[in-house]
Amino acid sequence: MSTEKETLLKEAEALRKELKHHEHLYYVLDTPSISDAEYDKKVVRLREIEALYPEEVPLDSPTKRVGGLVSSDFAEVKHLTPLLSLGNAFNQGELEEFDKRVKNGLPAETLVKYVVEPKIDGLACSLIYEDGKLVSAATRGDGTVGENVTLNVRTIKSIPLSLNLAEGEKPPAILDVRGEIYMPRRSFMKLNVERVEAGEQEFANPRNAAAGSLRQLNPEVTAKRALSFFAYAVGTGAKAKHSESLEMLKAYGFKTTEHWRVVKDIAGAWQFVEEHGARRHDLDYDTDGAVIKVDELAQQEILGATGKDPRWAIAFKYPPEQAETKLEDIVLQVGRTGVLTPTAVLTPVKLSGSVISRATLHNEDFIKEKDIRIGDTVVINKAGEIIPEVLFVVKDKRPATAQEFVMPKECPECNWPVERKAEEAAYRCTNHHCPALAREGLIHFASRDAMNIENCGPAVVNQLWEEGLITDAADLYSLKKEDLVKLPRMGEKSADNLLQAIEASKKQPLDKLLFALGIRHVGAKGARTLAQTYGDIHKLMVATPEEIAQIKDIGNVIAESVVTYFANPQKQELVEKLIASGLTVELEQQNISGDNPFFGKTLVFTGTMPTLDRSKAQKMAQDVGANVSGSVSKKTDFVIAGAEAGSKLTKAEDLGVTVLDEAEFLKMLNSGEQKVEVQIKQETEPQKPIIEEVVATNKEQENPKKESVEISLWDNE
Ligand code: IVH
Repeated sequence: MSTEKETLLKEAEALRKELKHHEHLYYVLDTPSISDAEYDKKVVRLREIEALYPEEVPLDSPTKRVGGLVSSDFAEVKHLTPLLSLGNAFNQGELEEFDKRVKNGLPAETLVKYVVEPKIDGLACSLIYEDGKLVSAATRGDGTVGENVTLNVRTIKSIPLSLNLAEGEKPPAILDVRGEIYMPRRSFMKLNVERVEAGEQEFANPRNAAAGSLRQLNPEVTAKRALSFFAYAVGTGAKAKHSESLEMLKAYGFKTTEHWRVVKDIAGAWQFVEEHGARRHDLDYDTDGAVIKVDELAQQEILGATGKDPRWAIAFKYPPEQAETKLEDIVLQVGRTGVLTPTAVLTPVKLSGSVISRATLHNEDFIKEKDIRIGDTVVINKAGEIIPEVLFVVKDKRPATAQEFVMPKECPECNWPVERKAEEAAYRCTNHHCPALAREGLIHFASRDAMNIENCGPAVVNQLWEEGLITDAADLYSLKKEDLVKLPRMGEKSADNLLQAIEASKKQPLDKLLFALGIRHVGAKGARTLAQTYGDIHKLMVATPEEIAQIKDIGNVIAESVVTYFANPQKQELVEKLIASGLTVELEQQNISGDNPFFGKTLVFTGTMPTLDRSKAQKMAQDVGANVSGSVSKKTDFVIAGAEAGSKLTKAEDLGVTVLDEAEFLKMLNSGEQKVEVQIKQETEPQKPIIEEVVATNKEQENPKKESVEISLWDNE
């Protein structure tokens, strides 16, 4: 091997190790130590080397989470040892009985310790590591045979593709890691908001969302769904004690819930059950119970199983948090995209420590399926422990006067006709100037994930709106203190705070502004991609749909929507006003210098590249000052061609334009002195208080407190 190759391969290996470490810090320990931009830079360098020696890229490279293997379409997999299920206990007495059965099954006077853990509400999965490398992942299935979901599981970043080993440590020949795939509540809420906006059916709860996301034929879809994994047991490869296995899993780099512990007797287990019952609503994942397991494997073996349930473990299930109440009315809320969401007005009732008076009814189909009528007695719970939802109607209690709900033909806000497209579950108001759209759009604009204007929650926005102080987002930036202090409940101090927060929002980065504009189909992620690709709102405003659609993860629908938005004279005027108010409309970039060979040149990308996805490559080129175009002409300086490049490549050859492959492109890209630092605020995903998410995605709600989440479904005042 040439020394150059050797050096590069060594560098690649070191980068993989480093990236793996950062993935672990970010996705498992939730304590990132570098910015996304720094992380991305390392990935880019790794891809660059890997593109030179594709045959040397190991399957556990962080660049190979998506698309590293050939699809297996959920073929059947026989588990090495069965995945057992668990018997249930519903109260302290039943736990004590379990303890007695355990003691009776073991020699007299045996000391039994238990491990107690939260019971995660997701899908069981078995991961097989051979010589330390993840080789297969399977769902539980019937416990003996499951489905092969390896490709999708590889996209879950909290699952290590290879075990973390200490210096010189040998991996076990076989390790069967069992655990639960779940969707964090935050991600679930985000996903549902996106689905409503796209006219798709919402997922009922995080568990269904996780199942739906795992069972995608295209792993790229799964990769976008923010799934996570808690390891809770070891099949083949277990230690002598379950607690030791959990420690081992943690050391190997898995996420184990931080809430497990060893207890000396069943009283200790009960204490855990009570403690966990009190905190479980505050976690970022659903837990429907606690699992109590005999710690010593030797004892587990003596106890064995009855059918599919082990005698050495039991699940304590918390009582379902449900309440019965009367559905007094169904009202419609018009969202910022014009979707009409039916909402149940309930006789206030206590549920999980808070008073509920509204519950979402999602859409017309939901009401029909559950045969919900006004005047019915209904049972409610909380989807994902947060959003009140009607579970079912108590038909026996239906009064003769109960009324069927009929979707109105007109928007309750502006009386324009509403329509339901064949492929959508939702009705939408057809009036593009419906006041609800503007008002809800303003609420969105000020919200946390958008311009993050503190003290400017839905109630304040509504107040400003009703007083005629704001009609669009730009008006926020010309609010005067003397107008504010005249408002009820707005003292001098609150007015100052509000004005300060509005001022501070001018510093929000470009992607937040693009998201805040509420361009249809442009979510937080799409906005980030657009901001990174264009770097300046002025450039995006004149982009063509073809150009935008070229960007990976963007596509035609978003592209059309962006162009339509900026073609609208009213929106143009709004954006101009925002620009004039001094909002941040450019990415902060440093040091783009002219000595990169691509600086000022026009590049066209075509075909599929071995390691880079196209939007990334385009962004990298733009970061060094290149112009990226969608079509080849005499003005094109370089065509970067991957596999199956078609007419663009032919045209480039005809015109004599220089054609580069990925490796050549990367080499040239890094040959200048430039190093681009794109300043994008780092996103730390999990473990933020979920309540903030509710505020950001639903409506209403001023100063968020856990206990008042339900108000988020109230009209204001
Ligand atoms: S142990 C014999 N531990 O609950 C041991 N299971 O009802 C079997 N689950 O299929 C599993 N959290 O999907 C175990 N900490 C935990 C768990 C857990 C959730 C699920 C698992 C299993 C189901 C049994």
